[in-house]
Amino acid sequence: MILIIDFGGQYKQLIARRVRENNVYCEVVSYRTPLEKIKEMNPKGIIFTGGPASVYAEDAPKCDRELFELGVPVLGICYGGQLMAQMFGGKVNRAASREYGRVALHINDNEGIFKGISDNTRCWMSHTDFIEIAPEGFTITATTDHCPVAAMKEASKKLYAVQFHPEVEHTEMGREIIENFVFEVCGCTGDWNMHDFAEQSIREIKEKVGDKKVLCALSGGVDSSVAAVLVHRAIGNQLTCIFVDHGLLRKDEGDQVEQVFKEKFQMNLIRVNAQERFLGKLAGVTDPETKRKIIGEEFIRVFEEEASKLGQIDYLVQGTVYPDVIESGTDTAAVIKSHHNVGGLPEDMQFSLIEPLRQLFKDEVRKVGEELDIPEEIVWRQPFPGPGLAIRVLGEITEEKLHIVRESDAILRDEIRKAGLHRDIWQYFTALPNIKSVGVMGDERTYSHTIALRAVTSSDGMTSDWARIPYEVLEKISNRIVNEVDNVNRIVYDITSKPPSTIEWE
Ligand code: XMP
Repeated sequence: MILIIDFGGQYKQLIARRVRENNVYCEVVSYRTPLEKIKEMNPKGIIFTGGPASVYAEDAPKCDRELFELGVPVLGICYGGQLMAQMFGGKVNRAASREYGRVALHINDNEGIFKGISDNTRCWMSHTDFIEIAPEGFTITATTDHCPVAAMKEASKKLYAVQFHPEVEHTEMGREIIENFVFEVCGCTGDWNMHDFAEQSIREIKEKVGDKKVLCALSGGVDSSVAAVLVHRAIGNQLTCIFVDHGLLRKDEGDQVEQVFKEKFQMNLIRVNAQERFLGKLAGVTDPETKRKIIGEEFIRVFEEEASKLGQIDYLVQGTVYPDVIESGTDTAAVIKSHHNVGGLPEDMQFSLIEPLRQLFKDEVRKVGEELDIPEEIVWRQPFPGPGLAIRVLGEITEEKLHIVRESDAILRDEIRKAGLHRDIWQYFTALPNIKSVGVMGDERTYSHTIALRAVTSSDGMTSDWARIPYEVLEKISNRIVNEVDNVNRIVYDITSKPPSTIEWE
């Protein structure tokens, strides 16, 4: 296991991904984690992330000096490397100008993290401070035009530091550098795989649950679906799934969920048809945050009512994934939208949690889903917000508007799939901006709705770019929507990235 110690770096998840890509298990922990806890975790190697602070700042995040004496290899990246330099008596200073971007890297070492890496390559820099003088006992292993110490090592202690970011794509040999650290320096074996993970989880769940009863709020999304099937494999029909259909799902989605989990997997599934209830509560509501709140609260109420009919339940399954775990550990992000995860349940519910996917990234969850034979439409389903179509119909929600969004969205999805783009685009959907405009159909003037197409590429939903869908595909989508969906006479394509926009329109 590799331990990633977070000093506030924006790339911590990326580092974890890079390690996992080598079939090596890793975890991200705060720099505040006590040394004793770190020792208990018994890592084969430690990576320090970058971070926004300066090592000289009064409240700069630090680590326990003893960490370097454990005999465990350490790789410090950017701030992490500067911290190592400073703690060993080297000099870190403010660079004359902030260095940001791709720069030439000259390597003069062929051991450890640089084994097999060519002497001249390119790396990604993003820093204000830099290591000016390496500590005594350290050897400088790479330089750039602006960094006299772009990398350094203390081979006998297995300490390595780099000023650049090997985890980002722009560092040409970044993957190999991390691979070297993990295998060459730390001696990991790379035997973490999803088949074994699934088998082990099933055994653990069986043991934990015994003959108790378990409940799951199933949304039909990738995470809750994989979690539910995994638990079902372990304990069969001691598991009951509640699927709340709030009437804000995409076309045929509710039926598909029922078909897969009830018929294919023979699971105990309760589908609660609460469409009227939700739409009633949302009637006349136009404010996006109020919509989210209403839906979140109503979801909890419906779920509680159903759960209370089931008698004593001891455990609750949740599809929490690793990015949620990492992100909830930080308190720095501003609230842009209250991402009320519908499926998020009240804190006072008396259940113990089973979160079998807590340690996995999304692509790993998908692999587990494939291991469990969950159909492709679910395993590869694009993210769908808990409040569903309510935040894709801008302003007041009506049955008619929901119908327009649902039908146009189904056409968009169909055409994206036919064009073979469905696995490349992170998310694609239609929104109804609540604008009517004038058009002409046949010889008739029309005054109808506009539909906005939204399609974005992203790796985590935190940032995104608009997808460059070929014109012919856009043309087909546009023609089909205006021809097949009543009361639509105009289609627009949203070409904003996030930031400054967001993926959803509300
Ligand atoms: P935004 O619109 O903030 O969305 O760029 C980023 C990602 O989060 C999804 N999203 C939500 N997911 N509850 C959810 O479970 C929500 O309230 C919610 N709002 C947005 C969105 O679809 C995108 O994948």
